[in-house]
Amino acid sequence: MVGKYSKPVVNVQPLWSSAIRPQEYDYGQTMTIKAHQRLLLTGAAGNLGQTLRERLKANCETLRLSDRRDFGPARSGEEIMLADLADADAVHATMAGVDAVVHMGGISLEGPFAPILQANIVGVYNLYEAARKHSTKRVVFASSNHVTGFYKQSETITADRPARPDGFYGVSKAFGEDISRMYFDRYGIETACVRIGSSFPEPRDRRMLATWLSYEDLYRLITACLTTPVLGHTIIFGVSNNSVTWWDNTQARHIGYVAQDSADKFRDAVFARTQAPDLSDPAVQHQGGAFVRMGPFE
Ligand SMILES: NC(=O)c1ccc[n+]([C@@H]2O[C@H](COP(=O)([O-])OP(=O)(O)OC[C@H]3O[C@@H](n4cnc5c(N)ncnc54)[C@H](O)[C@@H]3O)[C@@H](O)[C@H]2O)c1
Repeated sequence: MVGKYSKPVVNVQPLWSSAIRPQEYDYGQTMTIKAHQRLLLTGAAGNLGQTLRERLKANCETLRLSDRRDFGPARSGEEIMLADLADADAVHATMAGVDAVVHMGGISLEGPFAPILQANIVGVYNLYEAARKHSTKRVVFASSNHVTGFYKQSETITADRPARPDGFYGVSKAFGEDISRMYFDRYGIETACVRIGSSFPEPRDRRMLATWLSYEDLYRLITACLTTPVLGHTIIFGVSNNSVTWWDNTQARHIGYVAQDSADKFRDAVFARTQAPDLSDPAVQHQGGAFVRMGPFE
C-alpha cells in the first residue's frame, strides 16, 4: 500500500544478480556494482524522477521513491513512501534506513516565495536533519544553473564563483548548496550539488544548445556522484558535452563524470525553428535565460 506514514512497500531483488560483476567496478560511466543498500529518490513523480526511476535501480539493492504526489504502486526492487518535504516527521520517516539520497524533489520553477520556502528551503533543512539523525552518508542534490543565472552568457564560470541567483528559486537552490556544505563541514555528510542546466529529451531553444543535459548524461553524472570513492562537498554543473558552454567543471574532476552526449547535433534544427535572438533582451544576455525577468509575483 502507498501512504504518507505507511510501512514501505518492499519488493526487493537479490543484491548480486547474474548481470552484476563487482570486479567490473567502473564508477561514473556504467554502473556494474550496486554501491548502496537503500537509495532514496525524492521527486520521484517529477520529470527527472521518472527518467531516473528505472535507471537508478542498477545502483542499489532497494530504491525508495518519494514525492508528495501519489504516482502509483511500487515495482520490483522499489519501496514507495509519500512525503511532503515541508513535513519534518514525514521526511524523517522516509530517511530511516537510507544510506544515500538523490534529492530531486521540490519546486522546480521560478514563482512566488511562499511555496519555494516550504519545499526548497524548509524541505532541504528537513532532509539534512533527517540525514544527520539517520547517519545517511551521501546526497546528490539537484541544484540549478539559476544559482548563477545573473552571469552573462559571454562568461565562462567555475563553481567557486559567487552565487548570483536570478530569482527566489535560484536563491532556494543557493541555500541548499550552503546548508549541504554546513552539514558536510560539521557532520561529514557528503554532497554533490549538481547545478542542472536543462535536462529534457532534446534542446528546445538556442539557450539550451549551451545548457542541455541529456537524460543519459544526467544518469551518468548521478552515478558518478554516488560511486566516486571520495566525494566531499562539491558543486558540479550538470551539462552534456556541448560545444557552446558557460560552465567549467575542472574543479569537480574527482567525481569522474565524462559527458557522452552533446547538443551540437540539434544545432541546425534549433536554429531553423527559432528566431535570431534580441541581444537587448536580459533573457538573452544572462545565463538564467527567461528566469531573470520573471516576477514580481504580487
Ligand atoms: N529539469 C531540469 O532541466 C532542471 C534544471 C535545473 C534544476 N532542476 C532540478 O531538478 C529537480 C527535478 O526537476 P524536474 O524537472 O523533475 O522537476 P518536476 O517539477 O517535474 O519534479 C519535482 C517533483 O518534486 C515534487 N515536489 C514539489 N514540492 C514538493 C514538496 N513540498 N514535497 C515533496 N515533493 C515535492 C513534485 O511533486 C514533483 O514531482 C528539481 O529539484 C529541479 O529544481 C531541474
